[in-house]
Amino acid sequence: MIQCLIVESFAVAAYLCYMPVADAYAEPIIQAVLADEAEHLDYGERWLAAWYPEVAAPMAACCERALPTVLAILQAARSDLKAIGIDPVALVGEFVGCFQEATERVGFEPRQARRLVTRLAGKAAELVPLR
Ligand SMILES: [Fe+2]
Repeated sequence: MIQCLIVESFAVAAYLCYMPVADAYAEPIIQAVLADEAEHLDYGERWLAAWYPEVAAPMAACCERALPTVLAILQAARSDLKAIGIDPVALVGEFVGCFQEATERVGFEPRQARRLVTRLAGKAAELVPLR
């Protein structure tokens, strides 16, 4: 469930970034997929919120473990992202925003959520030169 939060936040971020560069054919499809991914994210948030605050510490630990995977996916997809007009750095920014909002909906105080996300984003910047 914790990984769901990361994966679904990433999916929402990716489709949000794809939206402005999608062609007329892809646009309604992306719109539908985006709604679907938002719903998946909502499941995870509600499940975790029901177990908050017990899940707070495992969530933070899991986020740190999962980050390298997220970054590896981003790194692997970097040239494809650029090819369709998505800025990989903008995608990281969108992901960080989505993920922070998701952690707040789970129950983290905005300050705690920001700290968790900022630490991850800081590590991301150290680990992966995206440009
Ligand atoms: Fe999903």
